[in-house]
Amino acid sequence: MITEKMSVALNTQINKELYSAYLYMAMSAHAQQKGLPGVANWFFVQTQEELSHAQRIYAYLIRQNAAVTFEAIEKPVIDVETPLAMFEKGLEHEKYVTASIHALVDVALEEKDRATEVFLQWFVNEQVEEEENACGIIDQLKLAGEAGSGLFMIDRELATRTFAPPAPEDK
Ligand code: FEO
Repeated sequence: MITEKMSVALNTQINKELYSAYLYMAMSAHAQQKGLPGVANWFFVQTQEELSHAQRIYAYLIRQNAAVTFEAIEKPVIDVETPLAMFEKGLEHEKYVTASIHALVDVALEEKDRATEVFLQWFVNEQVEEEENACGIIDQLKLAGEAGSGLFMIDRELATRTFAPPAPEDK
């Protein structure tokens, strides 16, 4: 069992993960319209990652016999044009999610909820990877340029990303 405060905080995180999926799917559509199928693929795979994050928290709440509640998902606003700006927006969003995960760990510590603290460690590590991925692509785009053959090469590389479902939480 987890406390009401912990349950509410985890439900809020589900909404943030679903918003992340929504944001990245909108980015994917935007990239398709710009003729960048590799960038579109990368963001579509990211959408699947975010859905799996929401599902992971959902499954944990069910296992803890805690209530699952859904709120409206905010409309994503794509106010960026270039691939570099898109990935910078993605990185900014991931930093926000990282802070949110860290705040959840703080709640688990306050509640003396050891099980949830351990559960959240996967997300702490995942956020390091999420930020690292975005930073790496930003560096490539800055090095190779945002047009012509440099962008073509990066787009082709991003087209190879595939979704690998994370291993389910150990039971
Ligand atoms: Fe679910 Fe991109 O953090």
